[in-house]
Amino acid sequence: MPVIVGRAPGKIILFGEHAVVYGQPAIAIPVKSVKASAHIAPIFDAEHAMVHISAPDINLNTALSNLTEDHPIAKAISLTLKQCQVKQPPSFSLQVTSTIPISGGMGSGAAISVAIIRAVSGFLGKPLPEKALADLAFEVEKIHHGTPSGIDNTVVAYQKPIFFVKEKPPEFLQISHPTHWIIADTGERTPTLATVAAVRNLHNEDPGFYGEIFEKIGKLSLNARNALEKGDIPVLGNLMIENQEFLSELNVSSPKLDLLINAARSAGAEGAKLSGGGRGGNIIALSKPDHMTRIEDALRKAGAIRVIRTLLSGHGEV
Ligand code: MEV
Repeated sequence: MPVIVGRAPGKIILFGEHAVVYGQPAIAIPVKSVKASAHIAPIFDAEHAMVHISAPDINLNTALSNLTEDHPIAKAISLTLKQCQVKQPPSFSLQVTSTIPISGGMGSGAAISVAIIRAVSGFLGKPLPEKALADLAFEVEKIHHGTPSGIDNTVVAYQKPIFFVKEKPPEFLQISHPTHWIIADTGERTPTLATVAAVRNLHNEDPGFYGEIFEKIGKLSLNARNALEKGDIPVLGNLMIENQEFLSELNVSSPKLDLLINAARSAGAEGAKLSGGGRGGNIIALSKPDHMTRIEDALRKAGAIRVIRTLLSGHGEV
């Protein structure tokens, strides 16, 4: 039996993070230059049925039976077995690797879950469609995020740019003009669970004020969808700047994020904002094609530990 590989890309949120948890629309795109991979090989000589897991990035090398039920890898496997109606799988070893920065706002947890679910269902001879991949990964996301909106698992499962509203099927963006984006990593890390909880505390303290901010962010996402589909770069840039102001009001920006955002804008970016949970992680900047190198240099000079370029093209490919 050959080795089975499941993969899933990273993601970046262009508009609407946090507000999306409260039912507002958001826009996310896959980032295919980083990815999670799950390799499965059968074990033929096991004395009794067993699943072996290795995930070198997190120093994990053990039997599945040693993981607790709510370990994200164990959960992804058990959900897949249940979905595929397999009680006792043949023995196999699973190796999980990822080039997506952990807690960097690029969907590493969701991508790892989707890669595992894809690989395990493929190994069982029952490959699952995108919707099932997204639904099962959503259950695992609850361990990472507490109250996830579902945007991360959806964009990495479908691998297409999406306009997303919680609990609704994703809408796929019809992009007619390419746009150029730069993703820069602060190197700071705060788990999404923590930033989502901090925003929830604010909202509990003053639901009127923060509810209005969420609604305003939702309107930006709606306008951004139009601008993205038309390729209206100046409008998109301004919408990003406004979105970042609201994210600062939600107290999820950080001095390092602000530094990189300002560096990108001073070097000619049309707009820039944090992306994902915030308080570290990545920023995203929108650039005209001939300003890319200048902006990337400025971001590295301002302390970005990694800079990635990505193109959102007419076919929605990144
Ligand atoms: C995390 O990538 C995006 C947040 O809006 C959380 C979520 O939507 O689950 C911060």
